Amino acid sequence: MTENPPNPRPVSSRLEGQPALVTGASSGIGRAIALGLARAGADVVVNYSSDPKAAEDVAHEIEALGRRALPVKADVSKEDEVLAMYAAALSHFGTLHIVVCNAGIQKDASFAEMTLAQWNAVIGVNLTGQFLCAREAVREFRRRGVVQSVSRAKGKILHMSSVHQEIPWAGHANYAASKGGIAMLMKTLAQEVAPETIRVNAIAPGAIRTPINTEAWNTPKAYDDLMKLVPYKRIGEPDDIARAAVWLASDDSDYVTGTTLFVDGGMTLYPDFASGARFSRPS
Ligand code: BGC
Repeated sequence: MTENPPNPRPVSSRLEGQPALVTGASSGIGRAIALGLARAGADVVVNYSSDPKAAEDVAHEIEALGRRALPVKADVSKEDEVLAMYAAALSHFGTLHIVVCNAGIQKDASFAEMTLAQWNAVIGVNLTGQFLCAREAVREFRRRGVVQSVSRAKGKILHMSSVHQEIPWAGHANYAASKGGIAMLMKTLAQEVAPETIRVNAIAPGAIRTPINTEAWNTPKAYDDLMKLVPYKRIGEPDDIARAAVWLASDDSDYVTGTTLFVDGGMTLYPDFASGARFSRPS
């Protein structure tokens, strides 16, 4: 029977000495996570795919927090670009302790109209991209080994999923399939690497105020319609996700692995059933 020995390091929510990589960090949820990790003490690789100016702005904000930042361009669906991004990150920071596989896209179409290009683009970034980035993370965590002075774990991987790993979404078959895939990728990887103290978890955001879903919240009518799906009656903010990410990346969650944390204001609670009791109350 093998056992991970008790680690004498006190549990800490701080991330000093734990360089992090966040994919898709130039906007939205990724940007908020990059800044949240920096506030908690981490230096951060700011991955972006198309907007260097936005990535540099995030890097400057991180530096203003007293941390180091490295913007790196890479399309996470391409293996050579992911390998080059890791090479740049490791030569700059020496190692990585936290990897947030966040980059994601939507290319919506009704099912019969969906092109193979739309399907492949979304699966490529959202699922294959998370596979490639998580694989390189595991390789680096293994190479480096545990550093007891910074964390109880050898490394932490966070996958960005969605409520749509659970909720079917007509008109978004590619996106929902990618998020369902992430759920099982995350759990299988978590099972495989837990014995070596690598933790793997996912966050499943609901509707968050970001550029990916602007039309779902940017008019009063759209916002009212959206609120019918959100029992907590407000849209999520990127910082709602960042706080969850910092917790999952820190030793505060040291005994948590293989879990999807839903941060969705109750979107997965079947809000249409909230009034169901009146039909089933005994007379
Ligand atoms: C999607 C958003 C959507 C939200 C809730 C997210 O994963 O990217 O476009 O608003 O799920 O449906």
